[in-house]
Amino acid sequence: MLKMGEMKNLSDMKFETAQSVQLMTEVERRAYADRAKYLGDDDFVKVPVKTLVSDDYLKKRISDFVPGKAGNSVDIKEGIIPESEETTHFDVLDKDGNAVSVTTTLNGWFGSRTVVAGAGFLLNNEMDDFSVKPGVPNMYGAVGQEANAIAPGKRMLSSMTPTIVLKNNMPWIVVGTPGGTTIPTSIYQTLVDIIDFHMTPQDAVNFPKFHHQWLPDEIFVEKDFDKKVIEELKAMGYKISIRDAIGRTEVIMSQDKTITVVADHRGDDAAAGY
Ligand code: DON
Repeated sequence: MLKMGEMKNLSDMKFETAQSVQLMTEVERRAYADRAKYLGDDDFVKVPVKTLVSDDYLKKRISDFVPGKAGNSVDIKEGIIPESEETTHFDVLDKDGNAVSVTTTLNGWFGSRTVVAGAGFLLNNEMDDFSVKPGVPNMYGAVGQEANAIAPGKRMLSSMTPTIVLKNNMPWIVVGTPGGTTIPTSIYQTLVDIIDFHMTPQDAVNFPKFHHQWLPDEIFVEKDFDKKVIEELKAMGYKISIRDAIGRTEVIMSQDKTITVVADHRGDDAAAGY
């Protein structure tokens, strides 16, 4: 709290003016939202203390403070301490028309951070894809109920959607992407863009994407999404949130004896044709 106040020049404000009380209130709101999410007995849970008191984190945490305007605890939740997403996707199509679409994942950053002794590979943390409790979101914000509850021998729900679309019984579009819950919606958009909107696979991959996953009830859009469309959607009553890149979609398209390969411009992905 002290650091966040300092970052917004609290000491230039006076004792118990509306200005200083407002800033301190907004600082307290954010600290308590973090307490609710991240704090507990550190013999049992990993409390991200280093991050929570770091200048970088706190600068971001207080960056949406608007002087003179009350925040609210519906919009201001705990700060996101990002668990980076560790999935990769690749497609292969050979000269005989054999196609492979592979999505593979550790889920979170270094998976469960556990290396199998002697084998040298990491174990994933896919357990997060189960619904731990009805209504409690996982790291992708996905909520679930009993159908995806943890049980012995049961597989967790996955969003991974490696896809091969056939035409005349031959692979036509081979597509996939990482991106947690944004995977199915990215594949859906890419296919609609190519098939219904007659876009090139390059444009279908590289144009800005959007995503809705029921809860939270908002449309996530990439930052270069058409501003006019955003305003029109807001006028319809949608909540729009701008977020970082959605997926890294790879496509191989085989049409009229021409193979088109596309690697998403969002990452350092690469494509090779023959
Ligand atoms: O199977 C799933 O739905 C998740 N474990 C996928 C995670 C993922 O895509 C992370 N990477 N971008």
